[in-house]
Amino acid sequence: EHPTTIYEAIGGAATMEKLVDAFYNRVEQDKLLRPLFPPSFDDVKQRQYWFLTQLFGGERLYEAHRGNPMLRARHLPFPITNRHAKAWLACMEGAMIEAEIPEPAREAMMHRLTMTAYHMVNTDENTT
Ligand code: HEM
Repeated sequence: EHPTTIYEAIGGAATMEKLVDAFYNRVEQDKLLRPLFPPSFDDVKQRQYWFLTQLFGGERLYEAHRGNPMLRARHLPFPITNRHAKAWLACMEGAMIEAEIPEPAREAMMHRLTMTAYHMVNTDENTT
């Protein structure tokens, strides 16, 4: 059987768990990103696991637990600039390498997430 989704191709739930752990460990060390998040990453980690599973073709876990993603709206309470998007993507790329997600899946995922990250930008650099 050929894997039919990126989710399956990269190794499913086990890989997704590694990716999300590696990602938030990096966010936690990032001086620009850390202050936007609450003291504990537990909730956001869980939700991101649901979201990425769904985004890359696994079970529709995010929808099941949180409904319509409406991600831009959910990010509006946080002032997100281009620099935040860039830092977020750098954490994600490092996490993908750490989770040993191979090409071409890694590039396809980064491409998709790059669009999403810049879509979250809601604050001009010069006003912060
Ligand atoms: C939630 C920051 C991009 C997916 C959050 C939260 C913050 C945040 C502060 C809320 C944490 C809390 O609950 O207090 C950022 C920043 C980004 C970014 C600075 C830079 C562009 C993204 C992207 C995705 C994403 C690209 C999609 C892959 C999520 C999800 C949640 C979340 C799924 C949980 C939403 C919920 O409450 O259900 N993010 N985010 N974020 N973010 Fe992001």
